Amino acid sequence: MTKKRIAILASGSGSNAQRITEYFADSEQAEVALILSNRTDAYVLERARKLNVPSRTFNRHDFYDSDEITRLLQTEKIDLVVLAGFLWLVPQHMLCAFPNRIINIHPALLPKFGGKGMFGTKVHEAVIAAREAMSGITIHFVNEVYDSGEHILQVKAEIHPEETPESLAEKIHQLEYEFFPKTIESVLDSL
Ligand code: GRF
Repeated sequence: MTKKRIAILASGSGSNAQRITEYFADSEQAEVALILSNRTDAYVLERARKLNVPSRTFNRHDFYDSDEITRLLQTEKIDLVVLAGFLWLVPQHMLCAFPNRIINIHPALLPKFGGKGMFGTKVHEAVIAAREAMSGITIHFVNEVYDSGEHILQVKAEIHPEETPESLAEKIHQLEYEFFPKTIESVLDSL
């Protein structure tokens, strides 16, 4: 059986990208073949180097005005595209080339606290300001609207009275590390 090939797109630190790469490092089923970022200063690129995963960066022109990145994913025979802290909307040509093969993780219980501009600490600040009893993670397919594709998995976390955006972010990251790689594995199984 040939290994399924995962590409990860990330804009920032990339701790999920690292966790996913490590999870599949000994897998017979799949591997992280490529890490892509829209930021040349993203720490995820440093992680990719340390993990020995090929990486490259791209700019708005490469991503939106040309289909260069879509073609790269095709040339690299990528089976599943994973957005892990990736902040740009995915262009139509990429959605068409990878139908039901692009997934994202959002650090809250969608459809609440999602959409354009809802990322990072802003999400956790908004959840706490709204006095929610629960937050969590949502793993979903990606479509042409931010955070609105079909849900694959949601996992809830309780919010304590003394919770801060920082403590909530930490709690959510732990859930992401536990559930994102396993969910990627089951999506790959269903391809
Ligand atoms: C995660 O919380 C993820 O849910 C969100 O962005 C964050 C990325 O964190 N989409 P990291 O770069 O993987 O550390």
